[in-house]
Amino acid sequence: MPLPERYTSADGAALDSMIGAAKATLGSDVFILGHHYQRDEVMRWADARGDSFGLSRIAAGQSDAAYIVFCGVHFMAESADVLTGDHQQVLLPDLNAGCSMADMADIDQVEEAWDELGRVIDVERLIPVTYMNSAASLKAFVGRHGGAVCTSSNARAVLTWALDRAAGRGERVLFFPDQHLGRNTGFELGYGADDMRVWNPRLALGGLSDREVKESTLLLWKGHCSVHQRFRPAHVSAFRAEYPDGIVMVHPECAHDVVSMGDVTGSTDAIIKAVAAAPSGSVIGVATEIHLVNRLNNESPDKTVVCLDPLVCPCSTMSRIDPQHLAWVLEGLVEGEVRNRIVVDPETTEWAKVALERMLAIT
Ligand code: 13P
Ligand code: SF4
Repeated sequence: MPLPERYTSADGAALDSMIGAAKATLGSDVFILGHHYQRDEVMRWADARGDSFGLSRIAAGQSDAAYIVFCGVHFMAESADVLTGDHQQVLLPDLNAGCSMADMADIDQVEEAWDELGRVIDVERLIPVTYMNSAASLKAFVGRHGGAVCTSSNARAVLTWALDRAAGRGERVLFFPDQHLGRNTGFELGYGADDMRVWNPRLALGGLSDREVKESTLLLWKGHCSVHQRFRPAHVSAFRAEYPDGIVMVHPECAHDVVSMGDVTGSTDAIIKAVAAAPSGSVIGVATEIHLVNRLNNESPDKTVVCLDPLVCPCSTMSRIDPQHLAWVLEGLVEGEVRNRIVVDPETTEWAKVALERMLAIT
């Protein structure tokens, strides 16, 4: 449904005054969360900024506000709904703000993969781990089957937990939906390429032989982020040729050949901290979404922060959240109308919460 003209025809100043006035009227009833990839015109209104892990923690601890307005993407708002109390409602300003990576694994495909694997290995010893970038139904699946959620900032801790045989957990992990985060973390933990196999949900038994499944430790779902997969080793080489003393920072959703050439690998929050810690005068090449890279450059006047791919596009779904939609949901709340509420059903909530709380307890 298109937004009313009041919002579509308003200029930046008019939208700012609508948002500011609505926020002031709502006071502590509303809490706005902003993911690091949001544009500045939205981010300036966030009561808290964070990466997906940080925001899920903040949502879990934010019990006062009746309304959480999530400036991020759909899976993040679902997680916030799971982690907040029954007296709270979560709103996503534009329901089209999804995540193409999250859409690469759906519950039917995962259930089917589980059944197929059950014909080859003992799934009691298979631990499912889902990246935060997944639907609540997948988090619930993971919760029901003894696994946990992870984010890019804690994937190592969660995989270590999942493969802790001494604690009687798994001998094998099914990791979805991002093969790159799974592979990068597997290498970090000392596993070799042969210990990790890509599970292609379009092929019988994921395109693997029985033997390959049996010999694997990590089964990596064939999913990826189209923003991060654009970065190539040639981008790192070109940056290093231009700035021999430059520092390269890479998000772990990038392919391993890019990650392996970086100086720092980490979540959006880890990249922000590493930029802050870099010496004054540093030139830093970053492989992640462009809004964050530009903000880092603007907020670090003593450093130069550039995107490693000069042609990188913004995350188009994150960009769906704009001041127009933010003004529309906030003014709705002032008028007593809850717009674009994200609701996860009770049974899914129960099990997704188990998986999310396991993650919060591990890290
Ligand atoms: P972070 O976990 O670093 O916030 O990343 C989330 C995301 O969607 C990256 O593409
Ligand atoms: Fe999804 Fe990639 Fe956008 Fe992150 S950057 S929300 S993984 S599409």
